[in-house]
Amino acid sequence: MNYDLEMERQIQNLSEKKSLLLHACCAPCSSAVLERLTDYFDITIFYYNPNITDKKEYQKRLSEIKTFVQKLQKNNIKVLDGRYNPQEFFDMSKGLEEEKERGKRCYKCYELRLRETAQVAQKLNFDYFTTTLSISPYKNSNWLNEIGENLNFEYKPTYLYADFKKKNGYKRSIELSKEFGLYRQDYCGCIYSKLKRDKENNIQTSSFQGKLVNYYDIFFLKNSNFKKEINILLKFLEENNIKTILDVGCGTGEHDKYLKENNLKTEGIDISPDMIEYAKRKNKDIFYECLDITKNIPQNNYDCVIALSHVIDYQLTEEKAKAMIKNIYQVLNKDGFFYFNFYNLKGIIHHGLSYQEKTITDKEITIKRKSNATLNSKNILDLEYFYYIQDKNKNININIKEQISCFKMENIIELLEKHNFKIINIFSYLKDNLDENDWNIGIICQKK
Ligand SMILES: C[S@@+](CC[C@H](N)C(=O)[O-])C[C@H]1O[C@@H](n2cnc3c(N)ncnc32)[C@H](O)[C@@H]1O
Ligand code: SF4
Repeated sequence: MNYDLEMERQIQNLSEKKSLLLHACCAPCSSAVLERLTDYFDITIFYYNPNITDKKEYQKRLSEIKTFVQKLQKNNIKVLDGRYNPQEFFDMSKGLEEEKERGKRCYKCYELRLRETAQVAQKLNFDYFTTTLSISPYKNSNWLNEIGENLNFEYKPTYLYADFKKKNGYKRSIELSKEFGLYRQDYCGCIYSKLKRDKENNIQTSSFQGKLVNYYDIFFLKNSNFKKEINILLKFLEENNIKTILDVGCGTGEHDKYLKENNLKTEGIDISPDMIEYAKRKNKDIFYECLDITKNIPQNNYDCVIALSHVIDYQLTEEKAKAMIKNIYQVLNKDGFFYFNFYNLKGIIHHGLSYQEKTITDKEITIKRKSNATLNSKNILDLEYFYYIQDKNKNININIKEQISCFKMENIIELLEKHNFKIINIFSYLKDNLDENDWNIGIICQKK
């Protein structure tokens, strides 16, 4: 059943503006729904979400909704706080803790929230009730509407059918979030979805990102190679008349700083919240978002995507690497470029792996790193680093373990071609020509 059409039919039959109690879980989801419904209904947003088990997160989302509604300055939109007792959620989800997202626990979670909405709508004499939840691609619209339909028989207010992700609703919610600077959470709400998010982030980003973020630029980027890298990149961008760039796995945003200085419109995404926070602090006028490129497609389109310092190698399976390439293809403009580098398996084997030591000094900070690497049977490098940092009078020791994929060059090329990219250039990174035994290989490819 097309629930969006069903809603259109309900709206067409309205003879006058009706009152609607609109359950909502956050400001971004509310934004596009309000835009869609505000001409037909006097809306009260109902924030009843005991599933958001972290109190701080709960309050953050609520206060974001309130600020957003204030900014809208529409007098037919109000906000009503529901009860907040996470125990209601825990009681409901007993025995379903291990369920996957979109599984049985979520069905019951939708039901809990919609039932309370219907009850309150009845108590306060609303004409209609519904929820914004169907705007999310992660929510099952059939279930939401089935639950709403059943509640219609039990309560007086009418359930307004909805599938708000239709007609580009989700895309619109991201655009509005950007326009209004809304906080977009990166997990659904309950402790189980939060743990899943944390687990995924740890695997993906390997503790490295968070732990070293304050010293990343000094250790990895403040060297003559970085200047060379930027100059080569800028030359390429200029020669190809590239104006807009997405930096995937932007890290601390150091590349973006230079791109911006050269009048290029740059945005950045990274899976690591620590990196994104750091980049935002550094480049206040650049738009950054905490996103996993294997799961999300940023909303804008760009002339070029860059993914530098081996972002692709952080994808530990071929499936993940494929998803990354596929999503990058989607955000590129016609004839857009993808510019990146990766660890070349042949080069890694050729150069051998050994114990290494490196020391970098910058003003009052000295960072010494000892590292060990072993290549496992799945062509994944198991790395262990010991950082000894002397920061003015402070001594900081950081031990990091991480895993990095090493790809065969022919596999990467095949993946790119399968996803409709044509190869423009393959080169030893930061060198002019290609040496197949080099461990650091750069590729420029173009959308066919
Ligand atoms: C070695 S750092 C490179 C940072 C930056 N590009 C540079 O050149 O300095 C790799 C970055 O990729 C990010 N990353 C890894 N997997 C990602 C994914 N699936 N989506 C978005 N970012 C990812 C990590 O969090 C990390 O910040
Ligand atoms: S993942 Fe989301 S919908 Fe599912 S139970 Fe948790 S909060 Fe509810």
